[in-house]
Amino acid sequence: MLTARKRIRKAVFPVAGLGTRFLPATKAMPKEMLTVVDRPVIQHVVDEARAAGIEHFVFVTGRNKGVIEDHFDVAFELDQTLAARRKTKELEALARELPPAGCTSFTRQQTPLGLGHAVWCARDIVGDEPFALLLPDMLHHGPTPCLAGMMAAYQEAGGNHIAVSPVPEDQTHLYGIVDVENRTANVSPINGMIEKPKQGSAPSNLHITGRYILQPEIFDLLARQERGASGEIQLTDAMIAMLGHDDQPFYAVRFDGTIYDCGSKLGYLAANVAYALERDDLGSALRAELKKLL
Ligand code: G1P
Repeated sequence: MLTARKRIRKAVFPVAGLGTRFLPATKAMPKEMLTVVDRPVIQHVVDEARAAGIEHFVFVTGRNKGVIEDHFDVAFELDQTLAARRKTKELEALARELPPAGCTSFTRQQTPLGLGHAVWCARDIVGDEPFALLLPDMLHHGPTPCLAGMMAAYQEAGGNHIAVSPVPEDQTHLYGIVDVENRTANVSPINGMIEKPKQGSAPSNLHITGRYILQPEIFDLLARQERGASGEIQLTDAMIAMLGHDDQPFYAVRFDGTIYDCGSKLGYLAANVAYALERDDLGSALRAELKKLL
């Protein structure tokens, strides 16, 4: 029998990063607003959270990110113009995607002190309840949305959950890596973690993919966290500290779809092609164009 769990209502999206890898595209535009086909990257990730039942969307932003707030608001003049032109389909699509009033919050990470610090900036908005955390660079593409699968695992076991997936051994130094009890199980207790291990020293090839369900106790640990790898306050270090507490189990939930790292040019381009190939209105025409090019 399932024990009643505290509901996961809120999701945090850290969107303060400068996006230097995409300059000059990101000089005046947030990297999260770059489009994968015709939706901004951040919209794809918010869609994933909504599909998992998230009700409140918390964005940790920074300077020059105001357009993200506009994107999740009503665009009054646009709606008026679309209505006057009888563009009902477009109007309905915009309305469908709009988060309900009062269901978005924005706070700023004033100093770029790392992912752990960005998450900590959301502490007052999240409050004393478990929450989801989604890193917008990482698009998770598969038959079951990643966070929805994690929610099911959370209902079963409670505690903290981290999505993982295997990477080639020569890439483990680029990610957080987990050590699990059972490497082939869909859900397995985590024994240890390490952020960006030196090459050859990773405890497994399972990397942290950027989707988390965390208990609110993480905020106290983040508040006390010293700077770690790259001089930044690392979320993984705070999670390692929490793993040491008897009442804070961590589980790795394997994601079996494809992950596109839209923080890298190659990942971003691949995501565009993959998502477009699946579309009824674009797939076959794009396939023909690609054949010409290759
Ligand atoms: C962050 C996390 C890391 C995780 C990665 C996924 O690293 O610290 O554990 O594997 O996201 O993208 P970053 O990409 O910010 O260096």
